[in-house]
Amino acid sequence: MIRLLSYIYPITKKVESKYSGTLEITWHNGKKHLNTKNANYSYGSLQKILKFGLQKIDVSNCKNILILGLGAGSVIDTLIKDFKFKNHITALDIDPVIIEIAKTEFNLSENKNLKIICDDAVRYMNQNKNLFDLIIVDLFIDTEVPEFFFNSSLWNNLIQSNSEKGSILFNASLQNNNNKKLFGIISHLEDNNYQTTKLEKVNGTNTLLIAKSTK
Ligand SMILES: C[S@@+](CC[C@H](N)C(=O)[O-])C[C@H]1O[C@@H](n2cnc3c(N)ncnc32)[C@H](O)[C@@H]1O
Repeated sequence: MIRLLSYIYPITKKVESKYSGTLEITWHNGKKHLNTKNANYSYGSLQKILKFGLQKIDVSNCKNILILGLGAGSVIDTLIKDFKFKNHITALDIDPVIIEIAKTEFNLSENKNLKIICDDAVRYMNQNKNLFDLIIVDLFIDTEVPEFFFNSSLWNNLIQSNSEKGSILFNASLQNNNNKKLFGIISHLEDNNYQTTKLEKVNGTNTLLIAKSTK
């Protein structure tokens, strides 16, 4: 019923989060999205943007994927439905409210192929010992990528956690104001034997960075 009504007008449920402010779970034109006040967090445009990035990566060769920034899990939906991904995914989010929304509103559940962790990505990457073939970095608070995610110590940890021929997909920004900081990350990755591609205005908005290890 809600799905049908949403073709006539959007239906929104609001939930408070200490990290992201008011979260909005919105049915619109028969589809459910997760938004903040100013940004689309999951499904909708965000899902299209990450799918575009994934199409430039050989996902079929990945055994282990790490997602930093679970949100409502739309990239997991893309990996499973569009890329027929059947191997292991570890997905992490700092916000227990968002993890609960992913489970109760977007039907995400842990199973032998999906591990969900509630932790700060920086803390997790500092102590991680596992190797991942693909790391998806999709960390936003509202419209901003937190400053620390442009820090080279985090990128050293990402490089160390990426397998020999692995890749990193970074959803870098909604605006171009992160371009300078992104330039620093690109040269750091290239110094560490990564081939990088910067994709601008993906779906009209976001900058994506794709880095492939040539170690
Ligand atoms: C755009 S959403 C992720 C969308 C998700 N990748 C998807 O496919 O639907 C960004 C997420 O990053 C999370 N986040 C922000 N800072 C974080 C941090 N320091 N550690 C872990 N998660 C964080 C937010 O709680 C939010 O859920």
